[in-house]
Amino acid sequence: KRPAGAPDKSLARPVSKVGIVGAGLMATQFATLFVRRLQVPVVMTDLDQERVDRGVAGVHAELDNLAAKGRLDSDTHNRLKGLVSGTTDRSEFADCDWVIEAVFEEVKVKQDVFIDLEKIVAEDAILATNTSSLSVDEIASVLQRPERFVGFHFFNPVAVMPLIEVVNATKTNEATVATAMAVAKNLKKTVVITRDRPGFVVNRVLAKVLGESMHAVDTGTPIEVVDSALAPMGLPMTPFELLELVGLKVGVHVLESHHAPFPERFFESANLDKLADAGAKLIERNGKGEKTGYTKEFKQIVGTDGNS
Ligand code: 3HC
Repeated sequence: KRPAGAPDKSLARPVSKVGIVGAGLMATQFATLFVRRLQVPVVMTDLDQERVDRGVAGVHAELDNLAAKGRLDSDTHNRLKGLVSGTTDRSEFADCDWVIEAVFEEVKVKQDVFIDLEKIVAEDAILATNTSSLSVDEIASVLQRPERFVGFHFFNPVAVMPLIEVVNATKTNEATVATAMAVAKNLKKTVVITRDRPGFVVNRVLAKVLGESMHAVDTGTPIEVVDSALAPMGLPMTPFELLELVGLKVGVHVLESHHAPFPERFFESANLDKLADAGAKLIERNGKGEKTGYTKEFKQIVGTDGNS
C-alpha cells in the first residue's frame, strides 16, 4: 500500500528536454546536475545574452571540474557540454517537458515568467519553481493549468546537498508530483514531499536559526560568540557562514517570509537588510579561503566594530 501522500510512481512522465529560466548561480548549479544525471538537452535562458553566456560558461566550467576530478570520461564530458545551450528566446522551450525557474524571488516576477511559459510549452509539460520562500499556491494562482505546477526546491551547494523538497501545492496533481519525484530520484537526490507552507520544512528551521543568530548580534552579543556557539553541535557550517553561502538577499527573503505570517515566532533584521543592500560579505577569509574572522562591514553595521 502506498504511504499517505506518496504518488503513484507509474504516473511519472519521461523528461527528454529540460528548460531553465534564469542563468544565475543557483540555476547554473542545477543545470549542471540536470545535464549530468539526465543526459538530455538543457536550455538556459535569461534576460540578456551576457547573463545567458555566463550561465552556460558556468555549467561548462563545472563539467570541466568533474572531468578533471575523473568523474566524467572525456567522451561523456564532451557530449554533456554539447547538450547545454543558452538563449534569450524562451520559444526554445516549446518541446521541453520540464521547465524550472530560478529567477528573482518576487511573486510577480515569477508569475510573469509562468504566464509566458504557458503560452510556449505543451499542455502536459511540467512547470517547476525553485522558490525558497514564496508561496507556490500564490505563484500558481495566475496559471491556466496549475495542476502541472510544482515546487522543486534545491539546497546550496546543489552538487553536494542531498535533499530536494517537492512542494505539493493545493492544485498540483498526482502525475506532476510523481514526475517531480522521479526527476529528483534520477538526479540522485533524496526527496521529501511538503505542503505549501512558509519555509516548507527546511527553511522553516533555517529561518529560526539564522533569525535568532542575527537577533542576538543585533541586540549586542558579539558576532563570534553567536557564530561559534553552534560549532560544537557538529554542524558543517556556523550560522553566519551559512548565511553567506545562501546569500544575504536570500536570507532577507527567508526571514521576511516567516516574520510576516508569524511575527511572534520569527525575527527579521534591519541590519541584515542593510548588509544585503550593501552587497556585504560577512566572513573574512585568507588567500586559501579559510575563515580568519568577520568583515569590518559586518562589525560596523551591527555596531560591534572595535569591541567584539
Ligand atoms: N559548489 C559545488 N561543490 C562544492 C561547493 C560549491 N559551492 N562547495 C563545496 N563543494 C564540494 C567540494 O568540491 C567537495 O566535493 P569533492 O569531495 O567532490 O571534491 C565537497 O563539496 C566537500 O567540500 P569541502 O571538502 O571543500 O568542504 P566541506 O567538507 O567543508 O563541505 C559543505 C562544504 C558541503 C558546503 C558543508 O560545509 C555543508 O554541508 N554546509 C552546509 C550547507 C547547507 O546547510 N546548505 C543548505 C543551505 S539552505 C538552502 O540552500 C535553501 C535556500 O532556499 C536558502
